[in-house]
Amino acid sequence: MKSGVSIDDVLAEVALMVRPQFGKGRPADYIPQLAGVDPNKFGMAVCTVSGGEHVIGDADEPFSAQSITKLFALGLALNQIGDEVWTRVGKEPSGTPFNFLSQLEYEHGVPRNPFINAGALAITDILLDTVKAPELLVRDFIGMLSGSQLEIDEAVAQSEIDTAHKNRAIANLMRGAGTITHEVEAVIAAYCRQCAITISCRQLARAALPLAADGFSPIAEETIFPSRLTRRLNALLLTCGTYDSVGSFAYRVGLPAKSGVGGGILAVVPGQATIAVWSPELDRFGSSVVGTAALEYFAQLTNCSVL
Ligand code: DON
Repeated sequence: MKSGVSIDDVLAEVALMVRPQFGKGRPADYIPQLAGVDPNKFGMAVCTVSGGEHVIGDADEPFSAQSITKLFALGLALNQIGDEVWTRVGKEPSGTPFNFLSQLEYEHGVPRNPFINAGALAITDILLDTVKAPELLVRDFIGMLSGSQLEIDEAVAQSEIDTAHKNRAIANLMRGAGTITHEVEAVIAAYCRQCAITISCRQLARAALPLAADGFSPIAEETIFPSRLTRRLNALLLTCGTYDSVGSFAYRVGLPAKSGVGGGILAVVPGQATIAVWSPELDRFGSSVVGTAALEYFAQLTNCSVL
């Protein structure tokens, strides 16, 4: 990041710059409980590896983390079984929407990467090998990294479990192919409950600090990921974290990132900082319109990029 720049001033400027972006997207409505969230929300938090914390707007308001949780579930699975994960899931961008079904069929039930829904369901299945309720493991892992107790929004979880027909089709296809081994309903319930974890921008930026700090969490005061794994997680975020818009996202923002249909986006500036942004209106790829613009402006103003 540009030296001498005030992050608080940058956040204030970004909050002004994104104003024209409101109204261009739509909150997720395929999960009924998410459709009712106030579309005008905007929060942003930056945590630096040197201990700085900077926030603006609704940065302390919890929102539905959704697919952002997939990053932490993957981290847990890689810490548990290492490269064996890659016998069940690929690590290539999919070029297809996050809930796409047919690619999975002609690719023999092996998901392209751990961030599309199919890949994340396979990761849930891996975690189910060792624990009964992987969603609680993921919740408490993110909680430990953020220094707070996180909750699962039961109404959002139930709303998604009731309507997860496409995810059930994906899970059934993978069960038939042997990619997942547990009962489909158990995998779906754990996955939907994991996605329904609520978190604020400040908590999320704190929780992701190991990705910026070579695997070390200053909040938990311990090493969470070996350095090589930290770099690999950032590589996966850069290449797969925003699905079929990953190329244009990298072009605009230039940082490893993970989006969620709750409107949150987490971005990492390796060696320097984490940035979490939340605003509910989404583009057609499931990423926050205002959040993406905010990250683009932030990266421009601070001159931060991995590229
Ligand atoms: O499975 C789903 O469709 C949601 N629980 C999560 C999707 C998601 O967040 C995609 N990311 N932008």
